[in-house]
Amino acid sequence: MKKGKGTMRRTGWPFHSAWTLAAFIAVTVAVPACGSAEDPNGGRLDDGANGNTPGSNNPDGTGSGSTPEEEIRKILDQRKTDYGEALRTASLKLADRLPSLEQIKRIENAADDAAKKVAYEAMVDEMIAAPEFSLVMIKFWKDTFRVGQVGNIQNNVNRDGAPNFAAQLTVEGRSYNELFTATTNTCPTYNGDDNTFTPTPCAQATNAVAGPTVGILTDPGLQSQYYANMAFRRVRFVQETFVCNKFPAEFAEAPVPMGAGTYTGAMPFKSITGAENKPDARIDFHDTKAVICANCHANLNHLAPLFLNWDENGALRNGPQVKVPIPGDPNAARIDFLPEGEGLAWRANKPITDMASLGQAIAADPDVPRCAVNRVWNYAMSRGDIVNDLASVPNSVTQPYLDKFTAGGMKLKETIRDVFKSEDFTKF
Ligand code: HEC
Repeated sequence: MKKGKGTMRRTGWPFHSAWTLAAFIAVTVAVPACGSAEDPNGGRLDDGANGNTPGSNNPDGTGSGSTPEEEIRKILDQRKTDYGEALRTASLKLADRLPSLEQIKRIENAADDAAKKVAYEAMVDEMIAAPEFSLVMIKFWKDTFRVGQVGNIQNNVNRDGAPNFAAQLTVEGRSYNELFTATTNTCPTYNGDDNTFTPTPCAQATNAVAGPTVGILTDPGLQSQYYANMAFRRVRFVQETFVCNKFPAEFAEAPVPMGAGTYTGAMPFKSITGAENKPDARIDFHDTKAVICANCHANLNHLAPLFLNWDENGALRNGPQVKVPIPGDPNAARIDFLPEGEGLAWRANKPITDMASLGQAIAADPDVPRCAVNRVWNYAMSRGDIVNDLASVPNSVTQPYLDKFTAGGMKLKETIRDVFKSEDFTKF
Protein backbone atom coordinates (compact mmCIF):
# COMPACT_ATOMS: atom_id res chain seq x y z
CA MET A 1 0.00 0.00 0.00
CA LYS A 2 1.96 2.99 -1.17
CA LYS A 3 -1.14 4.90 -2.07
CA GLY A 4 -0.99 7.42 0.75
CA LYS A 5 1.80 9.72 -0.24
CA GLY A 6 1.14 9.51 -3.93
CA THR A 7 -2.49 10.35 -3.39
CA MET A 8 -1.81 13.44 -1.41
CA ARG A 9 0.96 14.61 -3.67
CA ARG A 10 -1.00 14.20 -6.83
CA THR A 11 -4.12 15.85 -5.61
CA GLY A 12 -2.47 18.32 -3.31
CA TRP A 13 -2.74 21.22 -5.67
CA PRO A 14 -6.33 22.18 -6.28
CA PHE A 15 -7.36 22.48 -9.89
CA HIS A 16 -9.94 25.04 -8.91
CA SER A 17 -8.11 27.85 -7.22
CA ALA A 18 -10.94 28.44 -4.81
CA TRP A 19 -10.04 26.56 -1.66
CA THR A 20 -10.40 27.41 1.94
CA LEU A 21 -7.27 27.88 3.96
CA ALA A 22 -8.14 24.90 6.09
CA ALA A 23 -8.62 22.75 3.04
CA PHE A 24 -5.30 23.80 1.70
CA ILE A 25 -3.53 23.14 4.96
CA ALA A 26 -5.32 19.86 5.42
CA VAL A 27 -3.99 18.70 2.09
CA THR A 28 -0.51 20.12 2.30
CA VAL A 29 0.34 19.63 5.94
CA ALA A 30 -1.27 16.23 6.29
CA VAL A 31 1.18 14.70 3.83
CA PRO A 32 3.69 13.27 6.30
CA ALA A 33 0.94 12.01 8.60
CA CYS A 34 -0.68 9.81 6.01
CA GLY A 35 2.24 9.15 3.78
CA SER A 36 3.80 6.16 5.41
CA ALA A 37 3.89 3.10 3.24
CA GLU A 38 2.71 1.04 6.20
CA ASP A 39 -0.37 3.14 6.76
CA PRO A 40 -3.26 0.91 5.75
CA ASN A 41 -5.49 3.97 5.55
CA GLY A 42 -3.33 5.62 2.94
CA GLY A 43 -5.45 7.20 0.29
CA ARG A 44 -8.72 6.85 2.13
CA LEU A 45 -11.28 9.56 2.30
CA ASP A 46 -10.45 10.45 5.87
CA ASP A 47 -6.98 11.63 4.92
CA GLY A 48 -7.88 15.14 5.82
CA ALA A 49 -9.75 14.48 9.03
CA ASN A 50 -7.31 16.28 11.24
CA GLY A 51 -9.72 18.49 13.08
CA ASN A 52 -9.47 21.52 10.87
CA THR A 53 -12.66 23.21 9.92
CA PRO A 54 -12.97 25.70 7.11
CA GLY A 55 -11.96 29.11 8.32
CA SER A 56 -10.18 27.94 11.45
CA ASN A 57 -6.55 28.49 12.17
CA ASN A 58 -4.44 25.42 12.00
CA PRO A 59 -3.71 24.73 15.67
CA ASP A 60 -0.60 22.66 15.15
CA GLY A 61 1.57 25.35 13.64
CA THR A 62 5.08 24.51 14.64
CA GLY A 63 6.50 27.84 15.68
CA SER A 64 6.81 31.53 15.04
CA GLY A 65 8.08 33.16 11.88
CA SER A 66 6.70 32.49 8.46
CA THR A 67 5.35 28.94 8.64
CA PRO A 68 4.11 27.16 5.54
CA GLU A 69 0.62 27.63 6.94
CA GLU A 70 1.09 31.38 7.03
CA GLU A 71 2.47 31.37 3.52
CA ILE A 72 -0.55 29.43 2.33
CA ARG A 73 -2.88 31.74 4.19
CA LYS A 74 -1.27 34.70 2.44
CA ILE A 75 -1.89 33.09 -0.93
CA LEU A 76 -5.47 32.24 -0.11
CA ASP A 77 -6.17 35.66 1.39
CA GLN A 78 -5.32 37.11 -1.98
CA ARG A 79 -8.24 35.31 -3.57
CA LYS A 80 -10.89 37.70 -4.78
CA THR A 81 -14.56 37.12 -5.10
CA ASP A 82 -15.55 37.23 -8.76
CA TYR A 83 -19.25 36.61 -9.36
CA GLY A 84 -18.87 37.04 -13.11
CA GLU A 85 -16.32 34.25 -13.26
CA ALA A 86 -18.39 32.14 -10.85
CA LEU A 87 -21.46 32.62 -13.06
CA ARG A 88 -19.54 31.45 -16.10
CA THR A 89 -18.42 28.23 -14.42
CA ALA A 90 -21.75 27.63 -12.71
CA SER A 91 -23.62 28.06 -15.98
CA LEU A 92 -21.39 25.55 -17.75
CA LYS A 93 -21.90 23.06 -14.92
CA LEU A 94 -25.58 23.58 -14.12
CA ALA A 95 -27.01 24.54 -17.51
CA ASP A 96 -24.41 23.13 -19.91
CA ARG A 97 -23.96 26.46 -21.68
CA LEU A 98 -22.26 29.81 -21.23
CA PRO A 99 -24.27 32.47 -19.44
CA SER A 100 -26.47 34.69 -21.60
CA LEU A 101 -25.67 38.35 -22.12
CA GLU A 102 -28.65 39.21 -19.95
CA GLN A 103 -27.22 37.09 -17.12
CA ILE A 104 -23.76 38.64 -17.48
CA LYS A 105 -25.30 42.10 -17.35
CA ARG A 106 -27.19 41.27 -14.18
CA ILE A 107 -23.87 40.78 -12.43
CA GLU A 108 -22.15 43.69 -14.16
CA ASN A 109 -24.95 46.13 -13.45
CA ALA A 110 -25.29 45.21 -9.80
CA ALA A 111 -24.22 48.18 -7.70
CA ASP A 112 -21.75 46.53 -5.35
CA ASP A 113 -20.46 43.17 -4.20
CA ALA A 114 -23.45 42.58 -1.98
CA ALA A 115 -25.81 43.18 -4.89
CA LYS A 116 -23.69 41.02 -7.19
CA LYS A 117 -23.91 38.22 -4.64
CA VAL A 118 -27.70 38.49 -4.56
CA ALA A 119 -27.88 38.47 -8.36
CA TYR A 120 -25.48 35.53 -8.64
CA GLU A 121 -27.29 33.45 -6.06
CA ALA A 122 -30.66 34.13 -7.67
CA MET A 123 -29.23 32.86 -10.97
CA VAL A 124 -27.91 29.68 -9.32
CA ASP A 125 -31.45 29.06 -8.05
CA GLU A 126 -32.89 29.76 -11.51
CA MET A 127 -30.45 27.35 -13.17
CA ILE A 128 -31.25 24.62 -10.65
CA ALA A 129 -34.96 25.10 -11.34
CA ALA A 130 -34.56 25.06 -15.13
CA PRO A 131 -35.13 22.04 -17.42
CA GLU A 132 -31.45 22.01 -18.43
CA PHE A 133 -30.61 21.03 -14.87
CA SER A 134 -32.46 17.72 -15.34
CA LEU A 135 -30.38 16.96 -18.43
CA VAL A 136 -27.20 17.94 -16.63
CA MET A 137 -28.08 15.61 -13.76
CA ILE A 138 -28.86 12.72 -16.10
CA LYS A 139 -25.43 13.23 -17.64
CA PHE A 140 -23.81 13.54 -14.21
CA TRP A 141 -25.28 10.21 -13.14
CA LYS A 142 -24.45 8.49 -16.41
CA ASP A 143 -20.86 9.56 -15.87
CA THR A 144 -20.92 8.54 -12.23
CA PHE A 145 -22.44 5.13 -12.94
CA ARG A 146 -20.48 4.80 -16.21
CA VAL A 147 -23.59 3.55 -17.88
CA GLY A 148 -26.01 4.70 -20.54
CA GLN A 149 -28.01 3.60 -23.52
CA VAL A 150 -26.28 3.46 -26.89
CA GLY A 151 -28.98 2.78 -29.43
CA ASN A 152 -31.24 -0.21 -29.18
CA ILE A 153 -28.56 -2.84 -28.81
CA GLN A 154 -27.27 -5.00 -25.98
CA ASN A 155 -30.36 -7.18 -25.86
CA ASN A 156 -32.50 -4.16 -25.10
CA VAL A 157 -31.48 -3.99 -21.48
CA ASN A 158 -32.28 -0.46 -20.32
CA ARG A 159 -29.09 1.27 -19.25
CA ASP A 160 -30.77 4.64 -18.77
CA GLY A 161 -33.00 3.59 -15.90
CA ALA A 162 -30.50 3.94 -13.05
CA PRO A 163 -29.05 7.32 -14.07
CA ASN A 164 -32.56 8.59 -14.77
CA PHE A 165 -33.67 7.49 -11.32
CA ALA A 166 -30.69 9.11 -9.60
CA ALA A 167 -31.35 12.30 -11.59
CA GLN A 168 -35.02 12.22 -10.67
CA LEU A 169 -34.20 11.91 -6.95
CA THR A 170 -31.79 14.82 -7.25
CA VAL A 171 -34.02 17.11 -9.29
CA GLU A 172 -37.16 16.40 -7.26
CA GLY A 173 -35.36 16.91 -3.96
CA ARG A 174 -35.92 13.35 -2.78
CA SER A 175 -33.68 11.40 -0.41
CA TYR A 176 -30.44 10.08 -1.85
CA ASN A 177 -31.06 6.93 0.20
CA GLU A 178 -33.87 5.94 -2.13
CA LEU A 179 -31.07 4.77 -4.43
CA PHE A 180 -30.67 1.87 -1.97
CA THR A 181 -34.17 1.49 -0.57
CA ALA A 182 -36.79 2.25 -3.23
CA THR A 183 -39.02 -0.73 -3.93
CA THR A 184 -40.51 0.33 -7.25
CA ASN A 185 -40.31 2.80 -10.15
CA THR A 186 -36.52 2.81 -10.27
CA CYS A 187 -36.35 3.10 -14.08
CA PRO A 188 -38.16 6.39 -14.78
CA THR A 189 -38.26 7.87 -18.25
CA TYR A 190 -37.43 11.52 -18.85
CA ASN A 191 -39.33 13.77 -21.23
CA GLY A 192 -37.38 16.86 -22.20
CA ASP A 193 -40.40 18.58 -23.76
CA ASP A 194 -42.10 19.16 -20.47
CA ASN A 195 -39.17 18.38 -18.16
CA THR A 196 -40.84 15.51 -16.36
CA PHE A 197 -39.69 12.19 -15.02
CA THR A 198 -42.34 9.51 -15.34
CA PRO A 199 -42.16 6.89 -12.57
CA THR A 200 -41.62 3.52 -14.26
CA PRO A 201 -40.62 0.09 -12.93
CA CYS A 202 -37.60 -1.49 -14.63
CA ALA A 203 -38.54 -3.63 -17.61
CA GLN A 204 -37.53 -7.26 -17.11
CA ALA A 205 -36.38 -9.65 -19.82
CA THR A 206 -38.85 -12.38 -20.79
CA ASN A 207 -36.59 -15.07 -19.34
CA ALA A 208 -36.14 -13.25 -16.01
CA VAL A 209 -37.64 -14.50 -12.76
CA ALA A 210 -39.44 -12.11 -10.44
CA GLY A 211 -37.44 -10.54 -7.64
CA PRO A 212 -37.79 -7.58 -5.31
CA THR A 213 -36.66 -4.14 -6.44
CA VAL A 214 -34.03 -2.63 -4.16
CA GLY A 215 -33.17 0.85 -5.41
CA ILE A 216 -30.58 0.69 -8.16
CA LEU A 217 -28.94 -2.37 -6.58
CA THR A 218 -31.23 -4.62 -8.63
CA ASP A 219 -31.16 -2.47 -11.77
CA PRO A 220 -30.94 -4.70 -14.87
CA GLY A 221 -28.85 -2.14 -16.77
CA LEU A 222 -26.24 -1.94 -14.03
CA GLN A 223 -26.25 -5.70 -13.48
CA SER A 224 -25.56 -6.09 -17.17
CA GLN A 225 -22.96 -3.34 -17.36
CA TYR A 226 -20.99 -4.82 -14.46
CA TYR A 227 -21.31 -8.50 -15.37
CA ALA A 228 -17.98 -10.28 -14.74
CA ASN A 229 -16.53 -13.41 -13.17
CA MET A 230 -17.81 -14.20 -9.67
CA ALA A 231 -19.87 -10.97 -9.67
CA PHE A 232 -16.97 -9.09 -8.09
CA ARG A 233 -17.27 -6.23 -10.56
CA ARG A 234 -20.82 -5.58 -9.38
CA VAL A 235 -19.62 -5.39 -5.79
CA ARG A 236 -16.77 -3.14 -6.85
CA PHE A 237 -19.27 -0.84 -8.57
CA VAL A 238 -21.20 -0.43 -5.32
CA GLN A 239 -18.05 0.21 -3.30
CA GLU A 240 -16.41 2.70 -5.64
CA THR A 241 -19.57 4.52 -6.68
CA PHE A 242 -21.17 4.94 -3.27
CA VAL A 243 -18.24 4.80 -0.85
CA CYS A 244 -15.77 6.58 -3.12
CA ASN A 245 -12.80 4.35 -2.57
CA LYS A 246 -11.44 1.13 -3.92
CA PHE A 247 -11.07 -2.15 -2.11
CA PRO A 248 -9.84 -2.84 0.55
CA ALA A 249 -13.07 -1.50 2.00
CA GLU A 250 -12.09 -1.54 5.66
CA PHE A 251 -9.11 -2.08 7.92
CA ALA A 252 -8.50 -3.91 11.18
CA GLU A 253 -7.33 -2.07 14.29
CA ALA A 254 -4.46 -4.54 14.50
CA PRO A 255 -3.11 -5.86 11.18
CA VAL A 256 -1.61 -9.35 11.21
CA PRO A 257 1.66 -10.16 9.36
CA MET A 258 1.05 -13.09 7.05
CA GLY A 259 2.91 -14.70 4.16
CA ALA A 260 4.27 -12.06 1.81
CA GLY A 261 2.47 -9.22 3.54
CA THR A 262 0.03 -8.23 6.21
CA TYR A 263 -3.61 -9.10 6.63
CA THR A 264 -5.34 -5.77 7.16
CA GLY A 265 -8.97 -6.85 6.84
CA ALA A 266 -11.48 -6.27 9.62
CA MET A 267 -13.28 -9.59 9.20
CA PRO A 268 -11.78 -12.89 10.41
CA PHE A 269 -9.29 -14.21 7.84
CA LYS A 270 -11.00 -17.60 7.74
CA SER A 271 -14.50 -16.18 7.29
CA ILE A 272 -14.03 -16.53 3.52
CA THR A 273 -13.32 -19.61 1.43
CA GLY A 274 -9.73 -20.71 0.87
CA ALA A 275 -7.31 -23.57 1.30
CA GLU A 276 -7.33 -23.24 5.08
CA ASN A 277 -10.99 -24.16 5.42
CA LYS A 278 -11.61 -25.86 2.07
CA PRO A 279 -8.53 -27.66 0.72
CA ASP A 280 -10.21 -28.16 -2.67
CA ALA A 281 -11.35 -24.54 -2.98
CA ARG A 282 -11.69 -23.54 -6.63
CA ILE A 283 -10.16 -20.13 -5.84
CA ASP A 284 -7.90 -19.86 -2.80
CA PHE A 285 -8.74 -16.56 -1.14
CA HIS A 286 -6.37 -17.47 1.70
CA ASP A 287 -3.42 -17.20 -0.64
CA THR A 288 -0.69 -14.98 0.84
CA LYS A 289 2.20 -15.90 -1.46
CA ALA A 290 2.29 -12.71 -3.54
CA VAL A 291 -0.54 -10.53 -2.29
CA ILE A 292 -2.98 -10.99 0.57
CA CYS A 293 -6.14 -11.76 -1.38
CA ALA A 294 -8.26 -11.55 1.77
CA ASN A 295 -7.45 -7.87 2.30
CA CYS A 296 -9.94 -7.10 -0.44
CA HIS A 297 -11.83 -10.33 -0.73
CA ALA A 298 -12.93 -10.57 2.92
CA ASN A 299 -15.45 -7.84 2.09
CA LEU A 300 -15.94 -8.72 -1.58
CA ASN A 301 -16.79 -12.34 -0.77
CA HIS A 302 -19.36 -11.41 1.89
CA LEU A 303 -21.30 -9.42 -0.73
CA ALA A 304 -20.80 -11.11 -4.09
CA PRO A 305 -23.19 -14.04 -3.40
CA LEU A 306 -26.08 -11.54 -3.55
CA PHE A 307 -25.16 -10.63 -7.13
CA LEU A 308 -24.68 -14.09 -8.68
CA ASN A 309 -28.07 -14.68 -10.30
CA TRP A 310 -28.22 -11.86 -12.85
CA ASP A 311 -27.05 -12.87 -16.30
CA GLU A 312 -24.97 -10.77 -18.67
CA ASN A 313 -28.10 -9.10 -20.03
CA GLY A 314 -29.22 -8.09 -16.57
CA ALA A 315 -31.95 -10.72 -16.31
CA LEU A 316 -32.45 -12.23 -12.85
CA ARG A 317 -32.43 -16.01 -13.11
CA ASN A 318 -32.98 -18.89 -10.72
CA GLY A 319 -29.35 -19.87 -10.23
CA PRO A 320 -25.85 -18.37 -10.53
CA GLN A 321 -25.05 -16.85 -13.93
CA VAL A 322 -21.48 -15.68 -13.32
CA LYS A 323 -18.44 -17.91 -13.82
CA VAL A 324 -15.38 -18.99 -11.86
CA PRO A 325 -12.26 -18.23 -13.97
CA ILE A 326 -10.82 -21.76 -13.97
CA PRO A 327 -10.69 -24.28 -16.84
CA GLY A 328 -14.23 -25.06 -17.97
CA ASP A 329 -15.60 -21.77 -16.59
CA PRO A 330 -18.06 -23.38 -14.17
CA ASN A 331 -20.86 -21.31 -12.67
CA ALA A 332 -19.96 -19.72 -9.36
CA ALA A 333 -21.54 -21.13 -6.20
CA ARG A 334 -21.87 -19.64 -2.73
CA ILE A 335 -19.24 -22.06 -1.39
CA ASP A 336 -16.66 -20.43 -3.68
CA PHE A 337 -16.95 -17.29 -1.55
CA LEU A 338 -17.90 -18.25 1.98
CA PRO A 339 -17.54 -21.40 4.08
CA GLU A 340 -20.67 -23.31 5.18
CA GLY A 341 -22.62 -21.37 7.77
CA GLU A 342 -20.91 -18.02 7.17
CA GLY A 343 -23.43 -15.20 6.64
CA LEU A 344 -23.32 -12.22 4.31
CA ALA A 345 -22.13 -8.84 5.56
CA TRP A 346 -21.73 -5.26 4.38
CA ARG A 347 -18.86 -4.69 6.79
CA ALA A 348 -17.41 -6.46 9.83
CA ASN A 349 -20.24 -6.70 12.38
CA LYS A 350 -22.77 -5.40 9.84
CA PRO A 351 -24.53 -8.63 8.86
CA ILE A 352 -27.08 -8.68 6.05
CA THR A 353 -29.32 -11.41 4.70
CA ASP A 354 -30.59 -10.23 1.33
CA MET A 355 -30.50 -7.35 -1.13
CA ALA A 356 -33.03 -5.31 0.86
CA SER A 357 -30.92 -5.53 4.01
CA LEU A 358 -27.84 -4.64 1.98
CA GLY A 359 -29.69 -1.53 0.82
CA GLN A 360 -30.48 -0.67 4.43
CA ALA A 361 -26.87 -1.20 5.48
CA ILE A 362 -25.58 1.04 2.71
CA ALA A 363 -28.14 3.70 3.57
CA ALA A 364 -27.00 3.57 7.21
CA ASP A 365 -23.27 3.82 6.45
CA PRO A 366 -21.89 7.31 7.19
CA ASP A 367 -19.27 6.94 4.44
CA VAL A 368 -22.05 6.90 1.85
CA PRO A 369 -23.48 10.42 2.27
CA ARG A 370 -19.92 11.68 2.62
CA CYS A 371 -19.09 10.16 -0.75
CA ALA A 372 -22.17 11.75 -2.35
CA VAL A 373 -21.30 15.20 -1.02
CA ASN A 374 -17.64 14.85 -2.01
CA ARG A 375 -18.68 13.89 -5.53
CA VAL A 376 -20.76 17.06 -5.79
CA TRP A 377 -17.84 19.07 -4.50
CA ASN A 378 -15.50 17.57 -7.07
CA TYR A 379 -18.02 18.17 -9.82
CA ALA A 380 -18.35 21.84 -8.91
CA MET A 381 -14.60 22.34 -8.57
CA SER A 382 -13.74 20.34 -11.74
CA ARG A 383 -11.57 17.94 -9.79
CA GLY A 384 -12.16 14.78 -11.79
CA ASP A 385 -13.33 11.40 -10.60
CA ILE A 386 -12.95 10.86 -6.90
CA VAL A 387 -11.88 7.22 -7.27
CA ASN A 388 -10.02 6.92 -10.53
CA ASP A 389 -8.34 10.30 -10.54
CA LEU A 390 -7.56 9.93 -6.83
CA ALA A 391 -9.23 13.30 -6.38
CA SER A 392 -10.03 12.74 -2.73
CA VAL A 393 -11.32 15.71 -0.80
CA PRO A 394 -10.18 16.43 2.77
CA ASN A 395 -13.17 15.75 4.98
CA SER A 396 -12.77 19.04 6.76
CA VAL A 397 -13.62 20.84 3.52
CA THR A 398 -16.94 19.17 2.91
CA GLN A 399 -18.00 18.53 6.53
CA PRO A 400 -20.35 21.56 6.72
CA TYR A 401 -22.11 20.43 3.53
CA LEU A 402 -22.27 16.87 4.79
CA ASP A 403 -23.82 17.93 8.10
CA LYS A 404 -26.48 19.88 6.26
CA PHE A 405 -27.09 17.07 3.78
CA THR A 406 -27.66 14.44 6.47
CA ALA A 407 -29.70 16.77 8.69
CA GLY A 408 -31.84 17.92 5.78
CA GLY A 409 -33.09 14.59 4.45
CA MET A 410 -30.25 13.84 2.01
CA LYS A 411 -31.38 16.14 -0.76
CA LEU A 412 -28.43 16.36 -3.09
CA LYS A 413 -29.98 19.28 -4.97
CA GLU A 414 -29.58 21.41 -1.85
CA THR A 415 -25.93 20.39 -1.54
CA ILE A 416 -25.38 21.39 -5.17
CA ARG A 417 -27.06 24.73 -4.44
CA ASP A 418 -24.90 25.28 -1.34
CA VAL A 419 -21.62 24.36 -3.01
CA PHE A 420 -22.23 26.61 -6.02
CA LYS A 421 -23.06 29.52 -3.73
CA SER A 422 -20.13 28.91 -1.40
CA GLU A 423 -17.14 31.17 -0.95
CA ASP A 424 -14.98 28.30 -2.19
CA PHE A 425 -16.79 28.45 -5.48
CA THR A 426 -17.03 32.21 -5.93
CA LYS A 427 -13.48 33.16 -4.94
CA PHE A 428 -10.60 32.88 -7.38
C1 HEC B 1 -6.56 -4.83 -3.84
C2 HEC B 1 -7.76 -5.61 -3.72
C3 HEC B 1 -7.72 -7.05 -4.22
C4 HEC B 1 -6.78 -8.02 -3.94
C5 HEC B 1 -5.57 -7.91 -3.04
C6 HEC B 1 -7.21 -9.18 -4.68
N1 HEC B 1 -8.35 -8.93 -5.36
FE1 HEC B 1 -9.37 -10.24 -6.52
N2 HEC B 1 -10.56 -8.75 -7.15
C7 HEC B 1 -10.62 -7.49 -6.61
C8 HEC B 1 -11.61 -6.71 -7.31
C9 HEC B 1 -12.02 -5.27 -6.99
C10 HEC B 1 -12.13 -7.53 -8.32
C11 HEC B 1 -13.18 -7.17 -9.36
C12 HEC B 1 -12.44 -6.59 -10.56
C13 HEC B 1 -13.39 -6.24 -11.68
O1 HEC B 1 -13.95 -7.18 -12.28
O2 HEC B 1 -13.57 -5.07 -11.96
C14 HEC B 1 -11.44 -8.82 -8.19
C15 HEC B 1 -11.67 -9.92 -9.01
C16 HEC B 1 -11.19 -11.17 -8.75
C17 HEC B 1 -11.54 -12.35 -9.51
C18 HEC B 1 -12.40 -12.41 -10.74
C19 HEC B 1 -11.46 -11.99 -11.86
C20 HEC B 1 -12.01 -12.23 -13.23
O3 HEC B 1 -11.59 -13.20 -13.88
O4 HEC B 1 -12.87 -11.46 -13.66
C21 HEC B 1 -10.88 -13.38 -8.91
C22 HEC B 1 -10.94 -14.85 -9.34
C23 HEC B 1 -10.10 -12.85 -7.83
N3 HEC B 1 -10.31 -11.50 -7.77
C24 HEC B 1 -9.27 -13.60 -7.00
C25 HEC B 1 -8.27 -13.03 -6.24
C26 HEC B 1 -7.20 -13.78 -5.63
C27 HEC B 1 -7.04 -15.29 -5.68
C28 HEC B 1 -6.39 -12.87 -5.00
C29 HEC B 1 -5.09 -13.13 -4.27
C30 HEC B 1 -4.09 -13.82 -5.03
C31 HEC B 1 -6.99 -11.56 -5.20
N4 HEC B 1 -8.11 -11.71 -5.96
C32 HEC B 1 -6.50 -10.38 -4.67
C33 HEC B 1 -9.85 -7.01 -5.58
C34 HEC B 1 -8.71 -7.65 -5.10
